Amino acid sequence: MDSAEFSRDPYPLLAALRARGPVQRIGTGNGRTTWVVTGWAEARAALADARLSKDTARYFADRPSGRNLAPAVSRTMLATDPPEHGRLRKLAMTAFTPAAVARLEPRIREIAAELADALAARGSADLMEGFAVPLPIAVISELLGVPESDRAAVRQWSNELFAAADPDTVDRASHSLSDYMTQLIAARRAAPGHDVLSGLIAARDASDRLSEPELVSLAVLLVVAGHETTTHLIGNGMLALLQDDALRACLAAEPALLPAAVEELLRYDAPITMATFRYATEPIDLGGARIAAGDVVLVSPGAANRDPAQFTAPDAVRLDRPGRTDRGERADRPGGHLSFGHGPHHCLGAPLARVEGRIAFEVLLTRFPDMRLAAEREDAPEWRRTRLMRGLARLPVTLGR
Ligand code: HEM
Repeated sequence: MDSAEFSRDPYPLLAALRARGPVQRIGTGNGRTTWVVTGWAEARAALADARLSKDTARYFADRPSGRNLAPAVSRTMLATDPPEHGRLRKLAMTAFTPAAVARLEPRIREIAAELADALAARGSADLMEGFAVPLPIAVISELLGVPESDRAAVRQWSNELFAAADPDTVDRASHSLSDYMTQLIAARRAAPGHDVLSGLIAARDASDRLSEPELVSLAVLLVVAGHETTTHLIGNGMLALLQDDALRACLAAEPALLPAAVEELLRYDAPITMATFRYATEPIDLGGARIAAGDVVLVSPGAANRDPAQFTAPDAVRLDRPGRTDRGERADRPGGHLSFGHGPHHCLGAPLARVEGRIAFEVLLTRFPDMRLAAEREDAPEWRRTRLMRGLARLPVTLGR
């Protein structure tokens, strides 16, 4: 399978890997093996296993990468273990609360409606450029108080961090984003607002608070983790909806099903399909495999989400999935997908992503009931060729009346 084919549809390859066993060896280098976890139960166990570390600084300590990434980017909460992780996460959660997300909902609706207005003026559009890309970056910018004039630059640095092929460009973007957030934090410190960044600056837990470098790295993480992922929730989800007339009609008639649809679409085509990174700090037995200390363990949410041992008819979109496994265990979330991870690093932004997805689908389906995939071949949905994420570069549609 070549890489274009894999980008278009990775699921046959992931299924073939899973059929060989839920934990498979996919490479060896420098005496260390890389494993991929494709079974749902094994993936869920791995994501919560304290013997699997996310501390990349420690992992790379004895194999210098020669890179010059800004520390705010290379050393975020996502790349820490307990007890440091717990401390950072607790402080972050004092500001990034469900109430803060709920307060933002009317504004998300407003931004989505403005984008839909701009689309409505045209007969056809690329739904990525016209909606799925700008919505999350606008929302995360509002959340952090990034002024409108700076958003294009923030988006570009963030995109370069993820997708630039040239390592120097990635390194430069990491410093630009880090410097920008340092300045934004200084400005908020001088004149606090009602945004989450001001909340994070003020966040305290007894005598503890976030240091300046911790604040910068958290702000960077929120931008980087929060926007492309949500773009692909909207893009991948809309593609699935546009391929299923009955499902679209069902959601238009019964908007109360939208939250269930968001969960099922997250399961069906996860924005982080391929892998989340961990490495073993001691030997571990998982899914019949003997993982040695130092080995890399990649957990694939996309593969786990389609494990037939966990989900009946995993390759179909179904809104009536029970929240329990066939083995009788409780599922992680309604629907039981692992798209937001699981365990201590479970996505901090999941409540925000869920609200954005729900509003995006609702606005697009009600505003454009006759939206269809553009039929021309050269206009077909085009998948991005990224390693970890799965998402569309273009999603051409006709908008109907
Ligand atoms: C962590 C997915 C949206 C912030 C994670 C993880 C996953 C994930 C899989 C865990 C990675 C691991 O355990 O290795 C997603 C998806 C999203 C989304 C699929 C959209 C559909 C967001 C948003 C934000 C955000 C909107 C913030 C505004 C974070 C943060 C972490 C995280 C801060 C690290 C949590 C920790 O280390 O404790 N996300 N995410 N995410 N996500 Fe998200």
